[in-house]
Amino acid sequence: MTAFPDGFLWGGATAANQLEGAYLTDGKGLSIQDVMPRGIVGPPTDEPTPDNLKHEGIDHYHRYAEDIALFAELGFSVYRFSIGWSRIFPNGDEETPNEEGLAFYDRLLDELERHGIEPLVTISHYETPLHLSRTYDGWVDRRLIGFYERYARTLFERFGHRVRYWLTFNEINSVLHAPLMSGGIWTPKEQLAEGDLYQAIHHELVASASATRIAHEIDPGLKVGCMVLAMPTYPLTPSPADVLAVLHADHANLAFTDVHVRGRYPGYLLRTLREKGIELDITDDDRETLTHTVDFVSFSYYMSVCEAADGGEAGEGNLFGGITNPTLPASEWGWQIDPVGLRITLNQFWDRWGKPLFIVENGLGANDELVEVDGVPTVEDDYRIAYLNDHLVQVGEAIADGVEVLGYTWWGPIDVVSASTAQLSKRYGFIYVDRNDDGSGTLRRYRKKSFGWYRDLIASNGGTLTA
Ligand code: BG6
Repeated sequence: MTAFPDGFLWGGATAANQLEGAYLTDGKGLSIQDVMPRGIVGPPTDEPTPDNLKHEGIDHYHRYAEDIALFAELGFSVYRFSIGWSRIFPNGDEETPNEEGLAFYDRLLDELERHGIEPLVTISHYETPLHLSRTYDGWVDRRLIGFYERYARTLFERFGHRVRYWLTFNEINSVLHAPLMSGGIWTPKEQLAEGDLYQAIHHELVASASATRIAHEIDPGLKVGCMVLAMPTYPLTPSPADVLAVLHADHANLAFTDVHVRGRYPGYLLRTLREKGIELDITDDDRETLTHTVDFVSFSYYMSVCEAADGGEAGEGNLFGGITNPTLPASEWGWQIDPVGLRITLNQFWDRWGKPLFIVENGLGANDELVEVDGVPTVEDDYRIAYLNDHLVQVGEAIADGVEVLGYTWWGPIDVVSASTAQLSKRYGFIYVDRNDDGSGTLRRYRKKSFGWYRDLIASNGGTLTA
């Protein structure tokens, strides 16, 4: 017996800047990631520096066929990847795209097609062209909407006949916490005026809705989703003040999907803006554009947090954290592990929006040790198997609760460079990549123990899960 419906999409998710490498190949321009050698842990550099692991990544740009063959061996029916914006528009504000960049994704899609794997494409995953960031201050500038529209249209026209599922922005709500990585905003966070931040958010929301409209005009069969970082928030105590603090924290994140699904700003967000004294520049055209709503809602889920009216012990988190939950264990990087939170999130999102849901990221970053078993290098990552099993059991529960879930893509099915810390030692993969934080390594790929486990799970459509 399995809770997962026939046709449930199983796979993995990556982002161009974290695995492709080849950062200057075939006409690619620099993206913000090329000057973020420490992720969000350290400041960006003025120029690319040799210690940036993303420049070579795991050399997927040249090894994509080998990697996709491994995904096929896992039995993937879907693969989520992002298109590097600066491969297609090297500066971001050109009139015409870079053909060599487009051709790379043609080749990648050919390979997926050959293996019968459905692509799920993120249009913008933390890789704003550097020129747009340095010259325009990223999404603070309204002109970014037009540049993004041109980029999105280029992708839909070129790939729309072979890519059905699209995501407009990775974790769009994370711009609140990581304005450079998420919104390409060059002004340092401490100096960024709140009004500029909310204006940037507004521009991204309009651009996202506009891309949805363009996709549907080109082909009404295209499915466009928003993508948010989901982090369920629990009250630290049962006091109404703590529950209210949770409501406020939730609103800050839910607002992004409320706009994407309902086509207008929610009242609580208008109140926040009013109370902050922020008057956004919202045109009538913007209001009309926002009415082009998404077909589905997708999200990443790694952890939950607590919230309290009077503060508490702040914990680590995925781009943002909250108060540490005394009842939960944590990963080596301090992210609290909470499988039940995934069931709660699925139910809340389904109850609130009634849109099909897609879990497009979930995973465990860990220090893996390469060992030899019967002469073959591998990693005995039972901890990853346990994390995966426990989270998927909860997905099954949510499906049994009546939630419509389209699919599940594990974050980083192959080891990639971490987004937050820019390390390779923070590994998520079922496939180990021999590359270290100092850049050494052969780049050879090895199957971990979790590889066989996930392969069997997919083959049984979730039947091998243990409650
Ligand atoms: C998500 C991002 O926040 O989390 C990914 O969309 C990222 O890009 C993933 O890699 C895991 O985070 P990290 O910082 O451990 O790589």
